[in-house]
Amino acid sequence: MRHFLDLTDASGDAIAAMINNAQDRKAARAGWPKGKADADAPLAGHVLGMIFEKNSTRTRVSFDMAMRQLGGSALILDSGTSQLGRGESIADTARVLSRMVDAIMLRTDDHEKATEMARHATVPVINGLTDRSHPCQIVADLLTVIEHGKTLPGLELAWLGDGNNVLHSILEAAGLMKFNVRIGTPKGYEPEAEFIDLARKGGALVTLTNDAREAVAGADIVVTDTWVSMGQEHVDEKLSAMAPFQVSEELMSAARPDAKFLHCLPAHVGEEVTEEVFEGDRSVVFDEAENRIHAQKSVLLWCFGKL
Ligand code: CP
Ligand code: NVA
Repeated sequence: MRHFLDLTDASGDAIAAMINNAQDRKAARAGWPKGKADADAPLAGHVLGMIFEKNSTRTRVSFDMAMRQLGGSALILDSGTSQLGRGESIADTARVLSRMVDAIMLRTDDHEKATEMARHATVPVINGLTDRSHPCQIVADLLTVIEHGKTLPGLELAWLGDGNNVLHSILEAAGLMKFNVRIGTPKGYEPEAEFIDLARKGGALVTLTNDAREAVAGADIVVTDTWVSMGQEHVDEKLSAMAPFQVSEELMSAARPDAKFLHCLPAHVGEEVTEEVFEGDRSVVFDEAENRIHAQKSVLLWCFGKL
């Protein structure tokens, strides 16, 4: 049984297979109504249970639509209305849900809750974002990068802003898929060292700088995310430290002329990115959002041993 708690649960080859499969399935159903199942309906009869302890738009809708397109279905447990919210243990919830659904997706704060769920579940468990990582997002991001004509080995990806959960998963991907990451953060907001080490061990070049322009210079892809992630407090000191890392046209002009801009969304236009960049020609953020569906279909198929 395969859990997908982090990208390193899969191999580089498995991730490449996920991306290929996502591209093939996306092309095969172009123009179809979004809820129509793919011709082979590979997950017919399967149900995904989704637990949300944090808000979500894209992850929630894309997993639901992914299951429909694979011929299955999904149901949602909000922590506020389920017994989890009243203190029922993760272990018991995992064992109950394993008797009732075919896979579990969990969005939560503490990553340990996801590993605990996986320890006790007898069906695949998928990380739909924790404070530590957001692996499903990065499969969609890699798909988007490739669709826009880039190749992963040797790609120069610049990250600007907060060294957060999304960046951690990018670093995992960098080690697996052999691309390079230039990280521009204010001092004190770097990603956790273990993710940098992991990327470097995998053969990725990782550079850290406190100079936004240096991070972006010559980049193929420029990525940012909110400066305040879910569960964090708005602290004025952090927001002022982040200000020089706002992705602006001026900053984008230091990247390659064909560079693309990615953001997992939701965005705070006027904070981490200017409206000009967000709405501009180089922004592929809505392709990236759509690709959550296509990427997650591949993640689901991989978890069910069908990829
Ligand atoms: N990018 C992302 O995970 O979006 P949601 O928070 O809306 O799911
Ligand atoms: N870093 C953000 C990502 C949201 C999809 C957060 O954790 O809130």
